[in-house]
Amino acid sequence: MASARTASAAPRPQVVAHRGASGYRPEHTRQAYLLAIAQGADVIEPDLVLTKDGVLVARHENEIGETTDIAARPGFVGRKTVRVIDGEKVEGWFTEDFTLAELKTLRTRERLPELRPDSARYNGEDQILTFAEVADLARKESTRLGRTVGLCPEMKHPTYFRARGMAIEPVMAAALKAAGLDSAGAPVLVQCFEVGPLKTLATLSKAPRVQLVSAEGGPADLPGVRYADMVTVEGLKAIAGYAQAVGPEWRQVIAINAAGALAGPTPLVVNAHAAGLKVIPWTVRAENAFLPPALRRGTGPGAHGDVATLLKALFAAGVDGLFSDFPDLAVAARGT
Ligand code: G3P
Ligand code: CA
Repeated sequence: MASARTASAAPRPQVVAHRGASGYRPEHTRQAYLLAIAQGADVIEPDLVLTKDGVLVARHENEIGETTDIAARPGFVGRKTVRVIDGEKVEGWFTEDFTLAELKTLRTRERLPELRPDSARYNGEDQILTFAEVADLARKESTRLGRTVGLCPEMKHPTYFRARGMAIEPVMAAALKAAGLDSAGAPVLVQCFEVGPLKTLATLSKAPRVQLVSAEGGPADLPGVRYADMVTVEGLKAIAGYAQAVGPEWRQVIAINAAGALAGPTPLVVNAHAAGLKVIPWTVRAENAFLPPALRRGTGPGAHGDVATLLKALFAAGVDGLFSDFPDLAVAARGT
């Protein structure tokens, strides 16, 4: 039987290296990005937050206590503080309190050392990267390899930063322009879980955009709006008014039954394609801890389960790409 992909004769779905090859190296590092590209990733993903001096740096959170060695730096002890981010109280060290020069003195660490001890062996080897450095890496690797390595940057916490007087959208637009990525055909797709920042970015840059959604909750900038309402037929049409793609949680694309097994595709891909949107789900991880019960193998949360079955189910559902911490496994499951 022809898969949804074969039937539509669409281009090959893209493998997006989630924070780099973050299953193997500390996330958002030069090593993680280079390994991802070596493994065949089509696109690399930097999550982005702002420094005190207004530079976009590749971190998943603006709190950097978990993913850097800042807690062990005596000079920065006094800057530990508490902030409320998207309604959640967070204690630690925040990028917006540090200049880029200060952040460059830090070294990166594995986020999940118990699940990923092999990756944790690379603790202390890398610096925090700016978006400009990630874009430069992608450009140079594209030239070296003779193939395009795309970028999928994510604006993190725009509403939070805006409340602190730091608008992330114009900085993102300027950074895209500086990197030569501000055209509709540029190999870039800018992500956000919020709605307003994507609409604002659309007025500042021609770079394509993806609306992230998840199985629960809603956008931080629109209290009362639920992501579930944004992936209805009408909701997807609305997204198509300001974005070129939707980025759902993979569980919104492939259902899981009561036994914890994959239960076939939901209508999301068909409905999104009908609205003119591409679909790029997140985030496929190989460890049992992140897989539904029926795909878990061996013992322990860090052991790898049958992630190939999940990857193949997503590709067969007709996705246009997917985020994975394991680009090599995604490329293998795609089969081309
Ligand atoms: O951007 C896709 C995926 O990365 C969204 O989740 O929390 O890992 O940024 P998160
Ligand atoms: Ca992300």
